[in-house]
Amino acid sequence: MEDVFIVSAVRTPVGKNRGFLREWTAPELLGTVLDEVVRRIDLDPAEVDDVINGTVYQVGEQGFTLGRTGVLASKKFPDTVPGISVNRQCGSSLSAIQLATGLIATGTMDVVIASGCEMLTKYTITSDLNGTLFTGAPMGNPYGEYYTSKYGAPDQMLGAQLIADQWGITKQACQAFSMESHQKAHQATEKGYFKREILPMRGLDKEGNAIIRDTDEPIRPTTTMESLDGLKVLPNTTFITAGISSTITDGASAVVLMSESKMKSLNLEPMARVVASAVVGSDPKLMLTGPIYATPKVLKKANLSMADMDIFEINEAFAPIPLAWLKELDADPAKLNVNGGAIALGHPVGNTGCRLVVSAIHELKRRNGRYGLVSLCTGGGMAPATIFECT
Ligand SMILES: CC(C)(COP(=O)(O)OP(=O)(O)OC[C@H]1O[C@@H](n2cnc3c(N)ncnc32)[C@H](O)[C@@H]1OP(=O)(O)O)[C@@H](O)C(=O)NCCC(=O)NCCS
Repeated sequence: MEDVFIVSAVRTPVGKNRGFLREWTAPELLGTVLDEVVRRIDLDPAEVDDVINGTVYQVGEQGFTLGRTGVLASKKFPDTVPGISVNRQCGSSLSAIQLATGLIATGTMDVVIASGCEMLTKYTITSDLNGTLFTGAPMGNPYGEYYTSKYGAPDQMLGAQLIADQWGITKQACQAFSMESHQKAHQATEKGYFKREILPMRGLDKEGNAIIRDTDEPIRPTTTMESLDGLKVLPNTTFITAGISSTITDGASAVVLMSESKMKSLNLEPMARVVASAVVGSDPKLMLTGPIYATPKVLKKANLSMADMDIFEINEAFAPIPLAWLKELDADPAKLNVNGGAIALGHPVGNTGCRLVVSAIHELKRRNGRYGLVSLCTGGGMAPATIFECT
């Protein structure tokens, strides 16, 4: 097995719900990021064996295999470069990175781009359940009798509440976590920590004027315990609100992965080595506990401990998720989501896994850290987790 390295990593700023990215089409958004990720290392795109793209709502502009339409919408890639779209719900683009790693490690491919792209504000949560069959009957849903009789109808907000209840996490703790996420994301933005990883993108302001934006749009630095207190509680929950949830957003990101031999033959510098990957299934009713089990699994594979990790990116789908993870694994809160997470920065679901990896690698390099662990909970109860080493 060959070691696998990430040699380039870039992302768009995250756009808020119907925000500055609203006029982009998904293939053009992805194609722009693909062009940039190869431009940064002066890589001939014809060298790319495949583009493995994570997208959850594979309908409309995101349908017809966005991995491939992104290549065709790019300015630099020849049409000899193929593409594929994968879906592991919110873990999709971290799974894309894991799959790319496996293909390279086994010698099946030399150069693979793993990416994520989701225009969630156009194709929002459950977009793939709407519509009708050719008979005019409703599309149907994937949760048949077999599912609902065992687990009930899937409800992530309910899952977040059940996790808060089971791990004894209070509304106040969730609100404090949310406030801190916004503060950390705001400070990281002000200090320019995200500058290296972000590709400035053209878009539209509220009034429809053309703008170029190089910062994440959803961050609310004015968030306080008081402003969070008054928000409407979401259905089926006792205290989950929009303020302690990740937000509906748009974005794309990509990394170039290579075998060590290919990297050396192209005289490229490594950004990070992929140390180990794991994926787990977890209780579909609680739905969002996967990172609690994926973390020890991937640490064991890597023969490393929690203390060896310099930073953790555990996706902030809802505040109780990283808080339960912290409690269960007795982790150091100072190492968790050091520049904020999806509560502040948004969660364009299929994009988030790759976005977290792009941010983790750039942050490890900035602080001269060595190891970072990235994991996300997913719909249906799963979690991929991967450890990266900055060299
Ligand atoms: C939670 C959710 C339903 C809320 O949607 P929404 O109501 O459109 O959210 P909004 O952004 O409009 O926020 C609702 C209100 O809260 C306010 N709000 C949100 N965050 C706030 C903050 N940090 N501080 C103060 N107010 C805030 C908004 O201003 C808005 O107020 P308004 O109604 O007076 O305009 C949506 O964000 C969601 O579905 N999130 C989870 C996505 C998801 O499931 N992802 C997958 C997870 S695995």
